[in-house]
Amino acid sequence: MSQDFGSYQNEIYLNGLAGIVPEYPMAHAELEAKAQAAMPPSVWSYVAGGAGDEHTQRANSTAFQRWGLIPRMFVGASQRDLSVDLFGMTLPSPLFMAPVGVIGICAQDGHGDLATARAAARTGVPMIASTLSADPLEAVAAEFGATPGFFQLYTPTNRELAESLVHRAERAGFKAIVVTLDTWITGWRPRDLATGNFPQLRGHCLANYTSDPVFRALLDRAPEEDPQAAALAWTRIFGNPLTWDDLPWLRSITTLPLVVKGLCHPDDVRRAKDLGVDGVYCSNHGGRQANGGLPALDALPGVVAAADGIPVLFDSGVRDGADIVKAIALGATAVGVGRPYAYGLALGGTGGVVHVLRALLAEADLIMAVDGYPSLADLVPDALQRIT
Ligand code: FNR
Repeated sequence: MSQDFGSYQNEIYLNGLAGIVPEYPMAHAELEAKAQAAMPPSVWSYVAGGAGDEHTQRANSTAFQRWGLIPRMFVGASQRDLSVDLFGMTLPSPLFMAPVGVIGICAQDGHGDLATARAAARTGVPMIASTLSADPLEAVAAEFGATPGFFQLYTPTNRELAESLVHRAERAGFKAIVVTLDTWITGWRPRDLATGNFPQLRGHCLANYTSDPVFRALLDRAPEEDPQAAALAWTRIFGNPLTWDDLPWLRSITTLPLVVKGLCHPDDVRRAKDLGVDGVYCSNHGGRQANGGLPALDALPGVVAAADGIPVLFDSGVRDGADIVKAIALGATAVGVGRPYAYGLALGGTGGVVHVLRALLAEADLIMAVDGYPSLADLVPDALQRIT
């Protein structure tokens, strides 16, 4: 399955002949600046901010600059194949949308989960839908079209509720369960602390809980009648400090492919693999959870080696097509973006997300064309050179 992602630029240049210039920014810095202007300050600081002085968040992106792709000539890479096989599915490209818990309120109409799912349907780029959404997971899944969707689980302390969420995701047609391990407690985020802002405490993005029979049974009054009590109940069950002893249970509650998110140490990868996960997800949560850590990209080669053949999903700091190419060359099976598509959504709803995804893929595709790497299999570590 090869798709001509680079042709997005032809479309743009041809429109230019007719005097039409792109509606949305072409470069990340401008996308970020315009999104800031379009978002309420509290949502902007929650999305753009990270842990501590955000050193790790910045390092996630600058880490990519320490690698360069070596151009190869006389390859004639006139057709590129960016397709990947993941858990028995063939995806048109390695790009996916990482779970973003407040994506719902990043959209001007407050239904950003649905708008993002529609962008997945239009582009073939899968969305990993967060547990924290403004619309219930069933409504999100209904918008995926032919594109597979994955469900990200924040494992609540109440196991019955965890199982209910996972089984709802199975019934709704999600194709994998991604369990996030690094966020059972919120990291120290000065930007949000400075304004005392935590969206979920204000009742935002709790639709999966308030629509869940197990969660509702924990409440004295229906969440529609007493949303504040529901939000308080949520704080009591949200974060589960999982240990290795919990992994066999997580494995047992679903027959879908199980992926664990937040792994950066090779020993953790080996142990998770031994306990039967189908994939590992190398990420430091975009630097939002713990400052002072390694850029996620620096952890990737060790994770890939330890994964020993099972798929490795990767995110944190990916901002353009070159970053995607480099992450693939360092061994990622699939590469996620978080903030970039949230910014596209804030600017233009589904259309804004589609633009961001198409631009990322066009650049990756054209780099592979120019530099002579016709397929993802050609992007191996030796295709890169360390710059410093
Ligand atoms: C996130 N991320 C996240 N991850 C997760 O597993 N579940 C979630 O609900 C959220 N929520 C969330 C909200 C916001 C506002 C952001 C920016 C991120 C982390 C996300 O999946 C991903 O790991 C990072 O966003 C990747 O880094 P970049 O691309 O934002 O640098």
